[in-house]
Amino acid sequence: MKLLIFLGSVRKSTPPKPARLGERVAKACERCLVEHYSEHEIELIDPLDYDLDPVFKPHFAYTQAEVPKQLDDLAAKIKASDGFVMVSPEYNHSMSPALANLLNHFGSSLFGYKPSAIVTYSAGQWGGVRAAVGMRSFLSELGCLPVSAMIHVPKAQDVFIESGDANNAAEQTSWDSYFSRTFNQLIWWAEGASKQREALDPKQLSKDFKRDPSQRNAP
Ligand SMILES: Cc1cc2nc3c(=O)[nH]c(=O)nc-3n(C[C@H](O)[C@H](O)[C@H](O)COP(=O)(O)O)c2cc1C
Repeated sequence: MKLLIFLGSVRKSTPPKPARLGERVAKACERCLVEHYSEHEIELIDPLDYDLDPVFKPHFAYTQAEVPKQLDDLAAKIKASDGFVMVSPEYNHSMSPALANLLNHFGSSLFGYKPSAIVTYSAGQWGGVRAAVGMRSFLSELGCLPVSAMIHVPKAQDVFIESGDANNAAEQTSWDSYFSRTFNQLIWWAEGASKQREALDPKQLSKDFKRDPSQRNAP
């Protein structure tokens, strides 16, 4: 399976310290997947690598000839992927605006019929659970339904060092085991959905909505 990990923070300034705690959490996900699920292809997507136009223009709003290469390359990666790990901090009890902004650049035609895993974290004690609740709706609407298990990392600055390894080596196995419950579900669904996409193209059953929001309306 090809899995993309989306890092949800672009915050480089402080306070609050440390900045971009998300790097550690995304790397912890990457490390766990690479080490324990080595038969799968894992790639980390960092929103700071994408020079997005401040005037919002999603991938699907460009003609093929004018679409920026970076955006088109990421669209191709999303299309070729089988599942997604969405890593978000909690900002004001909501998911990261940087993650929402990046994902909003692509339609459900690319994400759809593939599973996702919700990973949230915070510097405080709740681990981003309130952001996670909203992420279920967001990711469901995007078409990449979240698996039931979720990963929440409270006080992430104490849990992981910058490499994504556990700060306390004795706790590494416990964190890997906790992460694995979600990743096992993600990969089970990714494999199942991949086989079913091959057996029956879902777009033959219902076409993508590309023209107008009214395409969603009840008759
Ligand atoms: C704008 C903003 C809002 C925040 N809101 C919350 C919050 O609602 N709940 C929480 O637990 N932490 C909150 N925090 C603290 C974050 O958990 C902490 O700063 C964390 O490091 C953010 O992740 P990042 O460093 O990857 O951006 C907030 C931080 C910022 C900058």
